[in-house]
Amino acid sequence: MSNTVLVGAQWGDEGKGKVIDYLTERADVVVRSQGGNNAGHTVVVGDKKYILRLIPSGILRKGKLCVIGNGVVIDPVALWEEISELGDQGIKVNSKNLLISESAHLVFPFHKLIDEYREGSEGRRKIGTTKRGIGPAYGDKVTRIGLRVGDLRRPTLFEQKLKDRVKDANWLLRELGLKPMKFRKILDQYLAVGEKLTPLITNTVLTIHKAMLDGKEILFEGAQGTFLDVDHGTYPYVTSSNTTAGGACTGSGVPPNRIDRVVGAMKAYTTRVGEGPFPTENAEVANLLHSMGREFGAVTGRERRCGWFDAVATRYAAIVNGIDELAVTNLDGLDSLPRLLVCVGYKLDGKKLQTPPTCVDQLARCKPIYIELPGWQQDTSVARSFDDLPENAKDYLKRICDLTGAKLALVGVGQSRAQTLPV
Ligand code: IMP
Repeated sequence: MSNTVLVGAQWGDEGKGKVIDYLTERADVVVRSQGGNNAGHTVVVGDKKYILRLIPSGILRKGKLCVIGNGVVIDPVALWEEISELGDQGIKVNSKNLLISESAHLVFPFHKLIDEYREGSEGRRKIGTTKRGIGPAYGDKVTRIGLRVGDLRRPTLFEQKLKDRVKDANWLLRELGLKPMKFRKILDQYLAVGEKLTPLITNTVLTIHKAMLDGKEILFEGAQGTFLDVDHGTYPYVTSSNTTAGGACTGSGVPPNRIDRVVGAMKAYTTRVGEGPFPTENAEVANLLHSMGREFGAVTGRERRCGWFDAVATRYAAIVNGIDELAVTNLDGLDSLPRLLVCVGYKLDGKKLQTPPTCVDQLARCKPIYIELPGWQQDTSVARSFDDLPENAKDYLKRICDLTGAKLALVGVGQSRAQTLPV
């Protein structure tokens, strides 16, 4: 038995859905422990493409139990939509393959309104959020005014709590010059969807612990990436949860001494969505990838910002997460380039840095120090084993993993399962 945490080693969108799909083959239980439907994991199985937002990617394999843990924030309407969409694609979701923590917090329509307002109002630092209400919902959680999934099962209590919360939210909405929300409308919608979700709601801490006692393997499916972590990321340009490995424990109730392995997913280059500093951002890389139809967000469709591989950032990610193994995805995105740049240090105010500064204003002023490596100018998407890769591609992978400080375990050269190459 071994329990694995998968994390993103960059700014999210590292192709974790694909890596999770691969790792899930061995796992018995797949757990989401943070984030919400701001995430979008794309998995291609045969000729079908699935985009998962709240439900762990393990749902696509038969006989796996998926768990949405206490650390996730759940928009139950969006979750029900996702369950229905999967049903339309032939994946039946029920209490045999999906359980939801009764302690996970709920996302409400007023959270989304407040998120949108903050993003749109002048004079505020725009974060570039997904506008799914994630930050305001986590805000409710830590200020102890949130409602939880378990509350949906007790309609009378839920009604009272929601009434108080909507009253509070409406005060703020009026202050901001926005239209107040209708409590009854939210109540009816949430109780109706709550009834449908009730068979899936339970104390998932106990479920996971029982699975561990029975010798089952647990896989923790991280959402977003290290530099979007609310504590360790490029604050305030981050999401509102702990996206790093420790978040898997607090967001699921599994203690740290039960984690055996941390796998870090990273692209062979770097991308970021939303605002915030991005030292290796580069127009040449962005134009190339966008012209190939790549690097558009799975959830929002937004064009991702793109740049060269940043080993300063990924090395820091390896430290914070304790990454043992690396999964490098999207290698094929670099196929046409004659030469590749890799950032091995930053320059700030005449000094050389080996780790990213924690202050974003300083990070924004960092200039990357690059080394140049030869490209391979060959189609890697046709490779079906690591040995099929061109020598220059293997050297590039070895170099970026050495610089990051962890062992290469997996390479991705396309979206399909056959294009995932174990090392
Ligand atoms: P929020 O999570 O919607 O509050 O957005 C906060 C920041 O995290 C923004 O820069 C988003 O673009 C980014 N973000 C949130 N979820 C993802 C994701 O799944 N992939 C990449 N970036 C994300």
